[in-house]
Amino acid sequence: MRFALIIALVAALLRQTLAAPYPLSNATDTTNTTFSTPSGGPYVCQRVYPADLAVVNSRYPDYDVDRLHQAKRFFMLRRQTLGEGEIATRVQFQRLPSKESNKTCRLEFVLPREELQKISGTNPSFNVYQVEREPDAIATWNTYKGNDGADLFGRVNGEPEALKKTRSVGGVSVINETACNETLTFQMGMAYDGGGLPNYWEFSNVAPPAWPIQGFRIVYGC
Ligand SMILES: *[C@@H]1O[C@H](CO)[C@@H](O)[C@H](O)[C@H]1NC(C)=O
Ligand SMILES: *[C@@H]1O[C@H](CO)[C@@H](O)[C@H](O)[C@H]1NC(C)=O
Ligand SMILES: *[C@@H]1O[C@H](CO)[C@@H](O)[C@H](O)[C@H]1NC(C)=O
Ligand SMILES: *[C@@H]1O[C@H](CO)[C@@H](O)[C@H](O)[C@H]1NC(C)=O
Ligand SMILES: *[C@@H]1O[C@H](CO)[C@@H](O)[C@H](O)[C@H]1NC(C)=O
Repeated sequence: MRFALIIALVAALLRQTLAAPYPLSNATDTTNTTFSTPSGGPYVCQRVYPADLAVVNSRYPDYDVDRLHQAKRFFMLRRQTLGEGEIATRVQFQRLPSKESNKTCRLEFVLPREELQKISGTNPSFNVYQVEREPDAIATWNTYKGNDGADLFGRVNGEPEALKKTRSVGGVSVINETACNETLTFQMGMAYDGGGLPNYWEFSNVAPPAWPIQGFRIVYGC
């Protein structure tokens, strides 16, 4: 009887030990992570870079002849006073897993090399909005939806401390995730007025050698 009790106690103790939570690693850079899962992984992250990146400018609201500022492969945002000479950016991803795949697509923000980053203003944080657009739909200021009722998808904190932290983990931060769809489109615009000077953000010449890093990518499959 006593022996059985001891066995039961030891068993309970063992169960508790085994159930102790695994120490979580501090790794925050998920840029190339392979996760093993109990159901038989590993799953390797797939990364997709924008099929198109377009800069839009409130001073040329319906400009759709060509890309503004030769803005095929870089990223620019500007705002001093809302609606006045404001510059925003749209990125579109194509050839993602279809909606029927039930996969989750994570939007990540990727900083290029530091000398390619021009960031200024009192608070160059920016908002990200998800919008529905047909593949290859032209982006103009008139089709930009930020600040007038679009659902906020995420915000990138542009304050120096936050950027320092992002750089310290490989320059990548997660913005948010959503159900995958063949085409996903996001618009970015400054979150705040600049006051005396504009809030400004630009990745200069983020064509080769930095290509395909244009500031954003979709990650899925892990
Ligand atoms: C995580 O970070 C904390 C504090 O920086 C440190 O004490 C701990 O050892 C780290 N754990 C791992 C698994 O690296
Ligand atoms: C990422 O993974 C690929 C293939 O799995 C490998 O060739 C590459 O070196 C890795 N990159 C980094 C930065 O670890
Ligand atoms: C996706 O989810 C739907 C509804 O739950 C299900 O009917 C379908 O089989 C799933 N598709 C895949 C590829 O898992
Ligand atoms: C999903 O992708 C399809 C096909 O590319 C596109 O027509 C549709 O607008 C996209 N939906 C959203 C919510 O982006
Ligand atoms: C992430 O996106 C969803 C819509 O896909 C939104 O409802 C949610 O508020 C977003 N999360 C954050 C932290 O912004």
